[in-house]
Amino acid sequence: MRVQKTLSVFLSLALLFSLVLAPTSFTPLLPVQAASRAPVRGKHGMVASVSEIASQVGVDVLKRGGNAVDAAVAVGLALAVVWPSAGNLGGGGFMMIRLANGKAIAIDYREMAPAAAHRNVYLDKKGNYIPESSTFGHKAAGVPGTVAGLAYALEKYGTMKWAEVAEPARRLAADGFPVWHQLELSLKGAEKGLSRYPETKRIFLRDGRPYAEGETFRQPELAATLERMIKEGPREFYGGKTAQLIEASMKRAGGWITAEDLKHYKVVEREPLRTKYRGYDLITMPPPSSGGVAMIEMLNMLEKFNLKEMGPGSSRATHVLVEAMRRAFADRAQFLGDADFVKVPVAGLTSRAYADRLAATINLSHASSSTEIGHGNPAPYESSETTHFTVVDKDGNVVSNTYTINDSFGNKITVEGAGFLLNNEMDDFAAKPGTPNAYGLIQGEANAVESRKRPLSAMTPTVVLKDGKLWFAVGSPGGPTIINTVTQIMINIIDHGMDLQQAIDTPRVHHQWLPDQITYEPYGLVPDVIKTLQDMGHKLVDKPRKIGDAHGIMIEDQTGVRLGASDPRLNGQAVGY
Ligand code: DON
Repeated sequence: MRVQKTLSVFLSLALLFSLVLAPTSFTPLLPVQAASRAPVRGKHGMVASVSEIASQVGVDVLKRGGNAVDAAVAVGLALAVVWPSAGNLGGGGFMMIRLANGKAIAIDYREMAPAAAHRNVYLDKKGNYIPESSTFGHKAAGVPGTVAGLAYALEKYGTMKWAEVAEPARRLAADGFPVWHQLELSLKGAEKGLSRYPETKRIFLRDGRPYAEGETFRQPELAATLERMIKEGPREFYGGKTAQLIEASMKRAGGWITAEDLKHYKVVEREPLRTKYRGYDLITMPPPSSGGVAMIEMLNMLEKFNLKEMGPGSSRATHVLVEAMRRAFADRAQFLGDADFVKVPVAGLTSRAYADRLAATINLSHASSSTEIGHGNPAPYESSETTHFTVVDKDGNVVSNTYTINDSFGNKITVEGAGFLLNNEMDDFAAKPGTPNAYGLIQGEANAVESRKRPLSAMTPTVVLKDGKLWFAVGSPGGPTIINTVTQIMINIIDHGMDLQQAIDTPRVHHQWLPDQITYEPYGLVPDVIKTLQDMGHKLVDKPRKIGDAHGIMIEDQTGVRLGASDPRLNGQAVGY
């Protein structure tokens, strides 16, 4: 009784305090999470990325009158300099653009398998996977698409010249920049891999040891590559000296990428996938990313449940979410691949009737078993990096871009004389269909290696509309966890009413069908919830770990102010003006 009385006095005082003393805003009744900072505000434009330096490069372009695409290309090139674990010239990605006039475009600049690659290139004579063959070394690299993709976006949807948007990156590479704490951690974490190849060691380690916070990191070879592309245009990468350096590096080490492969590289503009989730319009990435299809499949299932009433982080909501993840990832393994090579049943997988049938198999009090839904071999889960950034300009054009060299620092090989790292995206193929890749992910025949095919991705840059107008855009790295990260951000905002920063900050869970286990973040699930989930038959990883690194922008309802939200997990920074 006494406790209750004290509690009610306390609550009344707290309410009084929040009404009288708290600063007023347009939405004073939003449930504010104690753990979230407020989003960064910008009246005109905003860039949210993992690096404050790169975000500032983008804002400078916006201030000079560039549109969101101009700024996005400048940010993409700047991240290749300041965030080398994931930002890249030697990788690929997906750019989702929604113009203020309503047109939405999905630019696919995913790497392509070299012509010489075929189904069994990573298998020994007995048909077994050759360890590390698709993750390390020259043969792990797909033909890079980043330069072609950024150049395509700029030419078709930007307003500035390549030289203008590439110059800030060149300057950062030539003059250097102070290493910040997160970059120091990223270099330290990869020290062993970076030491594996002399050229990489020479450039990314300083006299053999990781750069420390505050030290200046210069990359003269990368600056020269950017300068060549500034002078000769981005095609230089595919047909000029840079192409020759890539081919020479491949020849020296028995890699496959040839000058012909580079010439043959093609950006593909695709029709984005569209869906509605609880009345809001989502625009997201089609194959060769599995992200859009799997997210839509999950959201269609989840729409059948009252997640709001269950409550964020509750055992019931987590259970339903995990069951949806399990089912969507089982389908991903079976059906997803490069739709230019295999038939992907996109319409069926994203249909509501199909999701209704799947949702009906979810038992509200018991976990289902992944082996009953399908089977494979559990494998260790490795962490690595990709990076996402989002840009909104003064007119309301938006770019949501995820790109990668797959693992942290890609295949760890720096093209000699060109100063950039190559990807190991070939590991996103099913090197041996039915066995796990570096992410423990089982993938099927649809994603087998083929000459000039694109490996299946999970990258999910997404744009959400409210009443037909831009509401928010977001994406994340994290391999297969990307799809679940973006899906949970959707739910946090649309079902639970969080603002974008809260939705990003909130701890995440991940399930990918196989291994049959829930991955969760440190302090992400309270012990009661863990116990309830275990009692329902769920298995949880022994060691929680961080999931994803999302960066997004939301438009404030009444004011149109751009609200930038960067993920605290890698301490990113949105910059607005
Ligand atoms: O395309 C994909 O799905 C993967 N290559 C992405 C890798 C990734 O996100 C690693 N980052 N944590």
